[in-house]
Amino acid sequence: MKEPATEPAPQRGKGTVSMITKRSALMMRRSFEKQTYRFTQAPPAQFGNFLGVYLHVPFCYRMCSFCPFYKELFSEELKNRYLTAILKEIDDSGIHGQAKWVYFGGGTPNTLSVKELAGIVDHLRVKFNIGSLGIELLPSLLTDCYLRDLRRIGFTKISLGVESFSGEVIGKTGRKLSACRFIDELVETAASLGLWVNVDMMVGLANQSAESFIDDIHELTATRPSQITIYPYMVIQGVKDTPSMSDQEQFELIEQAAGILKQAGYARKGVWIFAQGDDVYDSSRDELTQDYVGFGPAAFSTCGNWKVVNPELGIYLSNLEHNRRLAFVAPKAPAADEWRGFARMIYDLHTKPDHRFPFYIRVFLLLLKATGYSRGNNLTPKGLMFAHHVTKSVVESLPFPIQNPAAVENYQEYLTYKQKSN
Ligand SMILES: C[S@@+](CC[C@H](N)C(=O)[O-])C[C@H]1O[C@@H](n2cnc3c(N)ncnc32)[C@H](O)[C@@H]1O
Repeated sequence: MKEPATEPAPQRGKGTVSMITKRSALMMRRSFEKQTYRFTQAPPAQFGNFLGVYLHVPFCYRMCSFCPFYKELFSEELKNRYLTAILKEIDDSGIHGQAKWVYFGGGTPNTLSVKELAGIVDHLRVKFNIGSLGIELLPSLLTDCYLRDLRRIGFTKISLGVESFSGEVIGKTGRKLSACRFIDELVETAASLGLWVNVDMMVGLANQSAESFIDDIHELTATRPSQITIYPYMVIQGVKDTPSMSDQEQFELIEQAAGILKQAGYARKGVWIFAQGDDVYDSSRDELTQDYVGFGPAAFSTCGNWKVVNPELGIYLSNLEHNRRLAFVAPKAPAADEWRGFARMIYDLHTKPDHRFPFYIRVFLLLLKATGYSRGNNLTPKGLMFAHHVTKSVVESLPFPIQNPAAVENYQEYLTYKQKSN
C-alpha cells in the first residue's frame, strides 16, 4: 500500500527567487548594458594561435516565433552572394592557427547543401588546424544521405533543434509539424555514422504545459542522444511569443528533468546540459571567455582588446563586394568580462576560486559560501537556482547590437548606411 505523504508536495512555480539572486542578476545585467558598440571600421584582427571559429548561416525557410537570432528568409540569389562573400571573408581575414572548435550556427545551416558546406570547410582548412567540427541542424530538413555526407566531409558533431515533440507546441512556433516523429531514427543514423549528437529542447514555449515538457524528456531519453540541452525560454529582442510559464517554473521543470536524465544515465555538465561521457558541445559557453572569430553576417568575434560584430546581410555583402570592413565595434569592458568569467564558472556548476578573479568577485564567492549557495567548491540546490537565474539573465542582457539601438552609439548612422546598401 502507498504510504500517506507526510509533507504536502511543493507546488510548482511557488518557490521564490532569493534577494541575493535577483541582486546579482541585476548587477551583472548593468555591467553588460554599459558596453556599447560603434558602427565603424573594424580594427585589424589580432588573434593568438588558439581560438574558436563560429560561422553564421543566416537563412531559414520559416521564422520560428521563439527565435531571437539574426536570420533572413532563404533565397537562392542571397545564398549565392553569401557563399561568395563568406569565402572571401575567410581568405582575406589573415587569421590562422589551431581552431579548438569550428561551429556552424544559424539561422539554419542545413539550408546549405553539403557541397556548399564542404566549400566553406575547405577554405577553413587552409587557415586552421581544426579540432571538432560541429553544425546546428533543423531536423525537418534532414535525410540519412545528408548526415552521411556531413560525416564524409569531416563533421564530428551535430546539434538537432528539436525543442518539443508536441504538435500543439511546435505548431504554434511556425515550424512544420512532421519533423519530430523521426528524431529517434535521425539520432540512430547519426550515431551509427560516428557523429556525436546533441538535442536542444526548450521549456516555457507558448502552448507548452509542464506535463507535455516532462513527456518530451521521457521520450527523448529513449532515443539516447550523446547530449541533451534544455533551454529555458529566453526573452530577447526579436522573440515574438511570450513564455507559457514563469522563470521559476521553468527552473523547477529543468530540475525535474535533471532527475529523469540522471536515472537514464546522463551526467549534468552545466546548468542546462546533460551528457553521456565526458564530451560537451556548447560553443556559447566558450563565448563567455575564450577568444573566437565569427564569420558571416551578425557573427561575433572577440580579439585583442575588441569585440566586433559583423553587420546584417545587406551591409555584410556590400562590405565584402567592395573590400570594406564596417562592423559594430566595442572595446572590451574588463568588469563585464570579469562577471562573464564568473557566470561561466557557475554555469559549469562550481565555485572554484580562480586567481584571475578580482578581489570583489572573490569576496562575492565567500558570501555565496556563507549563505549556503555553495559547499566546498560545488553549488548546493539553492546555488543551482542561483546559477539558472543568473545565466538566463546574463544571456538575456547580452548586448546584441543588431536591432538594439540602445547598444549602438551611432545607430542612426548604421540605419542610413543600411538603406544605402540595400
Ligand atoms: C539558432 S537556434 C536554431 C537553429 C536551427 N534553425 C534549428 O532550428 O535547429 C539554436 C538553438 O537555440 C535555442 N533557442 C532559440 N531561441 C531561444 C530562446 N528564445 N530561448 C531559449 N533558447 C532558444 C533553441 O533550442 C535552438 O535549437
